[in-house]
Amino acid sequence: MSIDNKKVALVTGSTQGIGEGIVLELAKIGFSVVINGASTKYLSEDYKNRLRSIFKEELEDRYIYIQANVEKKEDREKIIDEIKKKFDRIDVLVNNAGVGPIKRGELLDMTEESYDRVMRTNLKGPFFLTQTIAKWMIELKKTLTDDYQPYIINISSINRYTPSLNRGEYCISKAGMTMMTKLFAVRLAEVGILVFEISPGIIDTPLTKPRHDIYDKLINEGVTPIKRWGKPIDIAKPVVAIVSGLIPFSTGSVLDIDGGFHLHRL
Ligand SMILES: NC(=O)c1ccc[n+]([C@@H]2O[C@H](COP(=O)([O-])OP(=O)(O)OC[C@H]3O[C@@H](n4cnc5c(N)ncnc54)[C@H](OP(=O)(O)O)[C@@H]3O)[C@@H](O)[C@H]2O)c1
Repeated sequence: MSIDNKKVALVTGSTQGIGEGIVLELAKIGFSVVINGASTKYLSEDYKNRLRSIFKEELEDRYIYIQANVEKKEDREKIIDEIKKKFDRIDVLVNNAGVGPIKRGELLDMTEESYDRVMRTNLKGPFFLTQTIAKWMIELKKTLTDDYQPYIINISSINRYTPSLNRGEYCISKAGMTMMTKLFAVRLAEVGILVFEISPGIIDTPLTKPRHDIYDKLINEGVTPIKRWGKPIDIAKPVVAIVSGLIPFSTGSVLDIDGGFHLHRL
């Protein structure tokens, strides 16, 4: 399946892990891609080479890297400004950037600083970025052709409904994201913007690397009916399905991409 090569997808938090996986799969189906991260000024050469193998000689025209912290209003404005300058349109927003607490710990000792940091990155930033981009998509709807079909996809977590006592602020942020999905889905349906949420399970990325042994053990013991780690491509494939128009009569839906973790068993 090939997408009109003028279509543009922004994936926040896409310098590694799930976000990178989504970027590469969207590039493969023809999207120009906006890559984002907060901590590094430039995209690594390795990453650029992965993009080059997809875009070939079109590389420089087909991607942009924007260093921006989604927590900050001025950085969110920078994202929009740079996309407008380079591509002048946006078709897909994937709210993927997310962090856990710097230090996991006892719920009763969670600090306000940690709570605020996680909520700013995982919920407040995505909410206000979505608000601004949705307004831009509404404008684009008026000027672009009838086949302009924008999508917004939120990457939440099994922690949206599963309490993990050592990272309560993360759980709260992801539960909030599920309501954010519903709110935007209802508001934007009338203007033809479809909103989805993907709820990943245990995925092999730099985020989960420090706890690899713990998760290996849990998976072996059957915490997920499908006994394997998820990979970034397991999340990227449903994103491709959504933006390819394969789920047209739905909005506000949550896809549990978690090896069956969400199933209650007796
Ligand atoms: N891995 C899992 O098992 C799992 C499970 C469920 C849900 N998720 C969710 O999936 C998403 C991606 O997770 P991952 O495992 O791929 O994480 P990761 O490997 O830690 O990657 C996170 C990405 O987000 C960027 N980022 C972090 N804070 C940012 C900010 N304030 N502004 C902009 N970019 C920011 C990072 O870039 P910089 O370092 O440059 O900032 C990086 O590119 C997160 O929302 C996470 O909560 C992951």
